[in-house]
Amino acid sequence: MYIFKAAVIGAGTMGSEIAQVISWSGLPVVLKDVDQKYVDRGLEHIKSIYGRRVKSGKMSQGEADSKVALVIPATDYKEFKDVDIVIEAVPEKLELKKKVFAELDQVCPSTTILASNTSALPISEMAAVTKRASRVVGLHFFFPASSMKLVEVIAGKETSEETMDTAVEFTESLRKLPVRVKECVGFLVNRVLMAGTSEILSFQEETQTPYNEIDEVMKAKGGLPMGVFTLMDALGLDITLDVSETLVKAYGDRFTPPKSLVELVKAGRVGAKAGKGFYDYTG
Ligand SMILES: NC(=O)c1ccc[n+]([C@@H]2O[C@H](COP(=O)([O-])OP(=O)(O)OC[C@H]3O[C@@H](n4cnc5c(N)ncnc54)[C@H](O)[C@@H]3O)[C@@H](O)[C@H]2O)c1
Repeated sequence: MYIFKAAVIGAGTMGSEIAQVISWSGLPVVLKDVDQKYVDRGLEHIKSIYGRRVKSGKMSQGEADSKVALVIPATDYKEFKDVDIVIEAVPEKLELKKKVFAELDQVCPSTTILASNTSALPISEMAAVTKRASRVVGLHFFFPASSMKLVEVIAGKETSEETMDTAVEFTESLRKLPVRVKECVGFLVNRVLMAGTSEILSFQEETQTPYNEIDEVMKAKGGLPMGVFTLMDALGLDITLDVSETLVKAYGDRFTPPKSLVELVKAGRVGAKAGKGFYDYTG
């Protein structure tokens, strides 16, 4: 199935990044939110991503303008009559996502693929409120989607092979790296990430190696864009702890969160957004 037009629901942190990625590939993309001010904020973010590329000489202002023009701002479903794929990126609340999926099922053609950018919620439960469960799929982009290559393509219980194939091809057309995964708690990336992160935190607790030394080695020798302590501070230690508790419930003690993480969250040091986490950001 060819994708000629896409849509993104939710113009927040992830939705605006995903819309930028789609426009960059040359496809028109509807960007819908509940209020014009959120759509405008999303558009500004998209313009700022292109602005940085113009500044660094990667594209001309004219090229950037033509990409931005592919983004169709919306606060209603008028533009959804001919979309081939919709990616939902509203807040991580199952009831809200189910409501959005039920609405999309009404307003989109019966052939449209409905995708969710959920980090952890069950795709099958969103599919269950539609009459097209075989065309519902998870498309989990990572922050910031404008530069992160990996995308988890998640099959719900009833997702068809054809939908998975189309989702994978679509992801590749965005110049991303799709990885097919089955629906399970934490999918693939959060399970691997939390297992690795937990081991590094335990090593730090045992050896008292300074955080920045570990981060530096991960960057210099591990080829990673940032070390694990910087990453957790950026994501929020409270969110990281939530994810790890969800994994404990599903898989048991092997995902028990490290002591240092629990203690920092208890002390309110939840990362960059609070001014303090593993590192101190005040001043
Ligand atoms: N932030 C991340 O690092 C990250 C990474 C990967 C996946 N995710 C997932 O992406 C999804 C979105 O997260 P986010 O961080 O972008 O959230 P966000 O709060 O930044 O943005 C959500 C947007 O959805 C809008 N919205 C709410 N209800 C709506 C509705 N009914 N219709 C249209 N728009 C609606 C809000 O106004 C807001 O602009 C979540 O499922 C989250 O788990 C987030």
